[in-house]
Amino acid sequence: MVDWVSVLPLETLRQQGRALVRVGGREVALFWVEGIIHALEDACPHAGASLAFSTLEGHWVRCQAHGLRFDVRTGQMAGGKGLCARRFDVRERAGLVEVAFRLG
Ligand code: FES
Repeated sequence: MVDWVSVLPLETLRQQGRALVRVGGREVALFWVEGIIHALEDACPHAGASLAFSTLEGHWVRCQAHGLRFDVRTGQMAGGKGLCARRFDVRERAGLVEVAFRLG
């Protein structure tokens, strides 16, 4: 079962380009790229560094710790197979960003 959790106004994400929120006890990094919202767990799959505060280059986020790059659309590491950041479903409803949190 999925529970949609409102986390912040869409306008705030539009203005900031990124945000760090907490959903169901997990830190989630939100990105606004080319008019689309993306959500990744804020823990790099390599060694856990924050992705929310890493460098955003188009739809790629470059981890601040060791420089690996992840596609914010899929969570996949650059170069095909390899590490994958956990992705969350996300949507906009009534001007708010909502993140899907799976129960159970
Ligand atoms: S912790 Fe992200 S690349 Fe190492």
